[in-house]
Amino acid sequence: MRRPLPIALGGVILAGGILAGGAQGEPAGDAAAGRALAGQCRTCHGLDGVAQIPIAPHIGGEPAGYITAQLTAFRDGTREHEMMSIVAKNLTDSQIADLAAWYNSRTATAELRADPAGAPEICVACHGADGIGLAPDVPNLAGETNIYIDTQLKAFRTGKRVHEVMSAIAAGLSDAEIRAAADWYAAIGFSVAPE
Ligand code: HEC
Ligand code: HEC
Repeated sequence: MRRPLPIALGGVILAGGILAGGAQGEPAGDAAAGRALAGQCRTCHGLDGVAQIPIAPHIGGEPAGYITAQLTAFRDGTREHEMMSIVAKNLTDSQIADLAAWYNSRTATAELRADPAGAPEICVACHGADGIGLAPDVPNLAGETNIYIDTQLKAFRTGKRVHEVMSAIAAGLSDAEIRAAADWYAAIGFSVAPE
């Protein structure tokens, strides 16, 4: 689940939409079972999905379909990372569904502290000015470290990570544009309501 806070800026209230995460047509995981499995994830992602190390992303409140797709990609080798490829290697489909259900059950809140007009124009249609994804296949960027965002955009640009939309977008970005987008989203406050 993700819930952008209404943002008060210069007296103007911008009400964010409320989006329920979760992909259609996928077997619903068991969040309680996922919470138990998340003991394996907490050193890096926290039990509630708030990252504990700068190179790991926040995953609390991400859409279940996105979490499932990424864990499956790490397991199958279509997305690679020295830590996550090992973590995902032995997860079954039902464990992945349970983990996705657990982390999706957390409520993520973004707090934009700058004028939304400064947001990177080519990103906002999908990632929002406040970094809360606007469609179920789009991950949140709010409060991710600039190192993480920078690394992912360069991975899309070099082809190390592949996605039909993001690969095409990243191909057109300069290092400076990547840095600016990473700094924008990294500066947004991010929190997950504890259990
Ligand atoms: C030792 C640290 C570590 C552990 C333990 C770990 N992760 Fe990760 N995880 C990472 C890092 C680092 C990344 C970023 C990988 C990259 O740069 O591509 C990541 C990425 C992810 C992503 C992709 C998120 C996104 O926004 O694309 C998901 C989903 C994920 N981890 C879930 C899990 C789950 C579920 C567990 C427990 C079963 C887990 N991780 C355990 C470090 C860890
Ligand atoms: C048309 C929609 C769209 C636009 C526009 C878009 N993105 Fe994305 N973005 C996505 C989708 C979908 C994904 C998930 C990719 C995947 O499944 O691997 C994604 C993934 C990402 C990720 C990886 C996040 C993670 O947690 O690993 C980053 C970083 C990112 N986008 C940054 C940007 C930036 C910066 C811009 C603007 C320059 C941008 N995106 C524009 C749709 C979009």
